[in-house]
Amino acid sequence: MKKFNIHQDIRKATTLPASFYRSATAFEQVKENIFTRFWQYAGDKNEIAKAGEVKPFTLLPGVLNEPLFLSHDRKGQFHCLSNVCTHRGKILVEEAGEQRLLSCRYHGRCFGLDGKFRSMPAFEETENFPSEADHLPAVSLETFMNLFFVSLNPLVSFSEMIQPIKERLSWLPFDQLRHEPKANADYHVKANWALYVDNYLEGFHIPFVHPGLNEALELEEYDYEIFPYCNLQVGIANEGELCFHPPEGHMDHGKKVLAYYWWLFPNLMFNLYPWGVSFNSIEALNSQETMVRFRSYYFPDSPYQEENKTLHQTELEDESVVESVQLGIQSRLYNSGRFSPSMERGVHHFQRLINRFVGK
Ligand code: FES
Ligand SMILES: [Fe+2]
Repeated sequence: MKKFNIHQDIRKATTLPASFYRSATAFEQVKENIFTRFWQYAGDKNEIAKAGEVKPFTLLPGVLNEPLFLSHDRKGQFHCLSNVCTHRGKILVEEAGEQRLLSCRYHGRCFGLDGKFRSMPAFEETENFPSEADHLPAVSLETFMNLFFVSLNPLVSFSEMIQPIKERLSWLPFDQLRHEPKANADYHVKANWALYVDNYLEGFHIPFVHPGLNEALELEEYDYEIFPYCNLQVGIANEGELCFHPPEGHMDHGKKVLAYYWWLFPNLMFNLYPWGVSFNSIEALNSQETMVRFRSYYFPDSPYQEENKTLHQTELEDESVVESVQLGIQSRLYNSGRFSPSMERGVHHFQRLINRFVGK
């Protein structure tokens, strides 16, 4: 992959080169410089609702492949810890469930649910033992809307990243959202993860790709707002569509907002609708395949509805264009394109952030 530079002036800029989406070197840089340094989705608080519960998981399987587990200790604290025993490296927690202590099935080393070393047979004569290095390493863990987010080595705090979302939507009852597992859906997309994100970050394609959504939106008023590590697309509703009612004094008061589409660098999306939140995590499986996870959260008094049918239809329409672009970027005759300054500010923002960490 050659070096590239996404010009800060969108009118002068060209997009990421096709080689970025194809190259193993670029993918390696994304992995080390972006995926380990920002925040990833790690499940739902309800999965370890009871004190004493633990749940093992792999962070970005096939890419980061980091064995971790979540725990809810007896004091009510949540932790995300390395799932690798500090003795010889065996995987410690093998299944989700309730535990008093975590005992390694190789040589019996024991840890508390907070990751602290507790005991180990036959180590009485070992000097300077136990030390800090014998505890399980802790991973940064944050919650928002009852979702867990983790980062191996965060460059920016989660609260700083999501501050614009919290401020803008402070009137909504985020702490009362109800997860609806029936609506969970995972989509396997045969394309590079960043092509999926590129597509998400512009409403330019809506009239061409989403006839259903296009009828609900007043596209002339579709708007983009850029923040340091997140950006927002505001979809204004056409007559007769269900919309938000921001309180008096709020900057959106009086606007017929159909949806707030929030994206958090690099791969998290919070789509807010009057009924609740459709959260998406865009997880690379490798440089050419992506798992897109949809999770739905309802506001109190919003019953489970059929909105998910529209979400599903829109997803299939997006997948089909994104997979087509994946074929297109293999071409010897395409390298990169230009941006529409009015419609592609979100994509430009994303690609500039990518460029801060890759292609230098
Ligand atoms: S690897 Fe865990 S006790 Fe030896
Ligand atoms: Fe779309």
